[in-house]
Amino acid sequence: MPLLTVEDLKIHFPIGHGQVVRAVDGVSLTVEKGETLGLVGESGCGKSTTGRGILRLLPATSGRVHFDGADVLALSGEEMRRLRRRMQMVFQDPFASLSPRLTIGQIVAEPLEIHGIGSGKAEREKRVGELLESVGLPALVARRYPHEFSGGQRQRIGIARALALDPAFIVLDEPVSALDISVRAQVVNLLADLQAERGIAYLFVGHDLSLIRHAAHRIAVMYLGRIVEIAPSHELYENPRHPYTRSLLEAVPVPDPTRRRERAPLEGDPPSPVNLPSGCRFRTRCAFAQEICARKDPPLLPVENGAPGHVSACHFANTLPMWTAPHAAASVTALAEEVMAEEGLTESTPPGK
Ligand SMILES: Nc1ncnc2c1ncn2[C@@H]1O[C@H](COP(=O)(O)OP(=O)(O)OP(=O)(O)O)[C@@H](O)[C@H]1O
Ligand code: SF4
Ligand SMILES: [Mg+2]
Repeated sequence: MPLLTVEDLKIHFPIGHGQVVRAVDGVSLTVEKGETLGLVGESGCGKSTTGRGILRLLPATSGRVHFDGADVLALSGEEMRRLRRRMQMVFQDPFASLSPRLTIGQIVAEPLEIHGIGSGKAEREKRVGELLESVGLPALVARRYPHEFSGGQRQRIGIARALALDPAFIVLDEPVSALDISVRAQVVNLLADLQAERGIAYLFVGHDLSLIRHAAHRIAVMYLGRIVEIAPSHELYENPRHPYTRSLLEAVPVPDPTRRRERAPLEGDPPSPVNLPSGCRFRTRCAFAQEICARKDPPLLPVENGAPGHVSACHFANTLPMWTAPHAAASVTALAEEVMAEEGLTESTPPGK
C-alpha cells in the first residue's frame, strides 16, 4: 500500500458573488515510501494548494487523503498534531521562511520544543547540532542568525528544521527555485542523500522540467487543478501522452537563440480557475482538440503500450502522433545533465533498486 494516497481532492476558495476559485479540482495521486513524486505545471495550476491541502494546512472542500493508514481529513486536532510530526513542508523562499529574530539553533529546535522532544536544553542542542551536520553545515552555526547565510545555506537550514521530527514524508514546494543553478544541484543532491539514508518520501513541486527529471522517480503533470498525466520520469520525457505535457516539454527555454524552434511553444495563459472550459480543461489551448473534447471530461486512464503506472487524461492519449523530443528540451536536458554530473548526481532510480 502506498504511504500516501490522495483521492479526488478538491480545494475551492469562495471569492464572493457566488464565484469559486477551483484551485484543486479533483486531484488523485499516490506516493510510495521512500519515493519522490514530482509535481509540475504552470504558475497558478494548484501545486502549492495541493501540497498544503495534503498536510491539512488548508481545509479540503472534499476528497480523501490517507497517510500510513490514517484518514488524514477525518483526524481530530490532537491526532493531526501528532501526525504532523511525520509530514513536513519545505517552502520555496528560504529568505522569507526563516524568522530573522531567531538564531539558527532556535529555528531548528522549535519543532522539537513544540512536540516536547528531548528531555532538556543540552539534549536538544545536541540534536540540533546533529541535524545541522546532516545537511552539511557545522553545528557551530546554531548561534548565528539567518541573514548571515546564503540562499543555499538557508535552504539547508529549512531542510534541517523539516527533518527535526524525523518525518516519513515532506512536501518540497519549489525548494530550489530561488537558488542559483549550481546551488540547486547541491540541494537536490542533499535531498536525495537524505532520502536514501532515511527512506523519506517527497512530493517535489517544481517548475523546472529539466531539474525535476533528476529529482523525481515519477512525475505528475498538473493543469488547472487536475493531474493530466503521471509517468515514471524517463517515460514522461520519452513518451509523453498528453498534449499539455508535450507543450511543457516544448516550452523549455532554448539555450542557443540562433536555433529556431521546430514546433510552436505553449501560447497564452490558462483559463481562469473560476470559469473552467466544459469537457477537457486543456481544450482551449490544445492543438489536438476535437468535438468530443468540449463535451466530455477525459478521465485519467492507463495508456496503451506505456510503462507501468503511466496514466493520461486525454481522449486521444493512445492515438497522438509519435513523439520526438524537441531540440530545445533535449539540449537543456543535456546542460542540466552536465551540471548534475559535476555534482555527482545521476537520474533517479525507483526506491529499492
Ligand atoms: N486563498 C486563496 N483564495 C483565492 N484563490 C486562491 C487562494 N490561494 C490560491 N488561490 C488561487 O488558486 C490557484 C492555485 O494557486 P497555487 O498557489 O496552488 O498555484 P501554484 O501551482 O502553486 O502556482 P506557483 O507555481 O505560482 O507557485 C491560483 O489561481 C491562485 O490564485
Ligand atoms: S482530451 Fe482533447 S482537448 Fe483534452 S488534451 Fe486530449 S485532445 Fe486535447
Ligand atoms: Mg506554488
